[in-house]
Amino acid sequence: MASPTTSHSSAPPDHDPAAAARSVAIIMDGNGRWAAARSLPVAEGHREGARALRRTVEAAIDLGVDSLAVYAFSTENWSRPPDEVESIMELMDETIDRELPDLARQGVRTRFFGRRDRVPALLRDKMATLEVETAANERLHLWIAFDYGGRAELVEAARRVVEDGLEVEDVSEEALAARLFAPELPDPDLVIRTSGEQRVSNFLLWQSAYAEFVFTDTLWPDFGEDELRAALDEYARRGRRFGAR
Ligand code: FPP
Repeated sequence: MASPTTSHSSAPPDHDPAAAARSVAIIMDGNGRWAAARSLPVAEGHREGARALRRTVEAAIDLGVDSLAVYAFSTENWSRPPDEVESIMELMDETIDRELPDLARQGVRTRFFGRRDRVPALLRDKMATLEVETAANERLHLWIAFDYGGRAELVEAARRVVEDGLEVEDVSEEALAARLFAPELPDPDLVIRTSGEQRVSNFLLWQSAYAEFVFTDTLWPDFGEDELRAALDEYARRGRRFGAR
């Protein structure tokens, strides 16, 4: 089972399905449909999604999760209407100001991973400041994927391999893993996707090689402790079946 300090390895997965999931990743999907069902602008769905994120982080602490990675903004999300993109940038900004400091007081260490060059400069600075301010926290490692894409990450890792001048025989899984956006991000034991869609959508392509997947019909703004507990229970049930005759 991965731990926040575990780095990637080419060895068989230390992923132990018989144990509780300690490293969890979530594809937070369904904000738009949640808003549409209420005749609200999509930004309201994202706003409610930010509340669900706060709830879920607190639940994850209580449920013994060590590492939680969430997909907040993908490399493809830039192609959404400009006002929606702007609303997500503003929401990230507000969340850093209002929610994440409180989570920091509860021992949450927050890190962002993805491209940084396209994020508005002020937001980029706030992200970096929060990372520094929470660096000593250990209760839960929160990883927020922002301007993140699994393919972009692998291309960037390949570029870094070339830039570092590695010899062909030195190009290994370890060498590539060490050049991902967030080399310290543990491989997820469990990936949850909300809203009934059953796709990976370019999230953690490398890291989820051995992950269990749980899909729930719940829209992200309705997600919280009960849904997280249900997904962790499903993971544990799969673990108990693992190895059975
Ligand atoms: C997917 O829902 C969600 C996003 C693209 C944005 C995720 C943002 C949050 C959950 C809010 C928390 C994040 C921040 C920035 C604090 P969708 O819009 O694709 O939903 P749909 O498929 O129903 O349209």
